Amino acid sequence: MRNLPIIALDFDSVEAVDAFLDRFEEPLFVKVGMELFYQTGPQLISSIKERGHEIFLDLKLHDIPNTVGKAMEGLSKLNVDLVNVHAAGGTEMMNSALAGLKKHNPNIKLIAVTQLTSTTEAMLRNEQNIQSSIEDAVLNYAQLAQSAGLDGVVCSPLEAELLKSELGETFLKVTPGIRPLDSTKDDQQRVTTPEDAKKMGATHIVVGRPITKNSNPVESYHKIKESWLS
Ligand code: C5P
Repeated sequence: MRNLPIIALDFDSVEAVDAFLDRFEEPLFVKVGMELFYQTGPQLISSIKERGHEIFLDLKLHDIPNTVGKAMEGLSKLNVDLVNVHAAGGTEMMNSALAGLKKHNPNIKLIAVTQLTSTTEAMLRNEQNIQSSIEDAVLNYAQLAQSAGLDGVVCSPLEAELLKSELGETFLKVTPGIRPLDSTKDDQQRVTTPEDAKKMGATHIVVGRPITKNSNPVESYHKIKESWLS
């Protein structure tokens, strides 16, 4: 997997994706989420791959182990590079996901969502009945994911430091909520610059609107890439 910033392709049509990708002359690492995948299906994945880009298919699977295993077997045929599940589905589900995935393509990486960044400590206590801090809850799920043989987690850069010290440098920490200093926060509450995310231990950053909504997406991407790789 390349160490490029992962561009979140949060568009609602194939045309919009194509128009965006047409601007770039280099291989990219892009993220396709539920919104786009549910509207465009596996065909879009093949066409992005044909353009030579790497893909993080962000579908956050969460179901019984057998169903997730079979679903992953299907996704592995799409030849994507990175996929994810919810760690809350449990160790058996993660094992099954991994087994399904590796059946057709041993190179696809699997990461887990720990606690969504939209989850507050009050929700953790009152709705999930988890009495620990968010950090401890995230660490617990990240440890489960590592024990199950997953390659890493999606997390906030603010959690990456703890995960790096507890789970090691190479365990993937893929972090959204990234904003360069000259960018607006949009609906992200706690944001981090690419440089700081790197310092905190992120192994990959996911960046959407600062690139996709910029009047010059290519220039914005290159600036972010430079500060991330510097
Ligand atoms: O536009 P922006 O840079 O905020 O996009 C971030 C991307 O990462 C979006 O696709 C969003 O759904 C995703 N994401 C996130 N926070 C999480 C998990 C995923 O922003 N905790």
